Amino acid sequence: MKISLTINNRKKTLDVPANQTLMDLLRAQGLWSVKHGCETGDCGNCTVIAGGLAVNSCIMLAVQANGKAITTFEGVREKSGFSPVKETLMDFGDSDCGFCIPGMLMSMKALLDKISDPTEEELVDALAGNLCRCTQSVKPVQAILEAIKKIQGKW
Ligand code: FES
Ligand code: FES
Repeated sequence: MKISLTINNRKKTLDVPANQTLMDLLRAQGLWSVKHGCETGDCGNCTVIAGGLAVNSCIMLAVQANGKAITTFEGVREKSGFSPVKETLMDFGDSDCGFCIPGMLMSMKALLDKISDPTEEELVDALAGNLCRCTQSVKPVQAILEAIKKIQGKW
């Protein structure tokens, strides 16, 4: 099936199998930040922003992305506001393997796009679907809470 969508601000028209997931489509485009985790919508490691919402791309069909704007971590990591996020994550020594981080940051971005100054509760809610198998999510969530204070409106 032919679909037209925008991926990281680039318009694309692609032929996709009817049963292809958005996760597989994005990884086939070389967007390796979209992690292949559980494939059942439980871990959040495949999180991208689709039509303004954080979604688990492993349980969304590529054809459902027709007409939508998709953003992956590759689409935001070069933005100027990302450096404080990266530095804060490193300061907290937040991650062991880092597998969960792109998905967490995309959930955070989807929240910040709607609420520039979220409460801790709103952030924890937004990250509830992103699991970190190394640290039980404690350190990444702490680091992201700290990073948000530094990047208000820049990312
Ligand atoms: S790989 Fe998509 S939620 Fe786990
Ligand atoms: S740091 Fe390894 S899964 Fe989060």
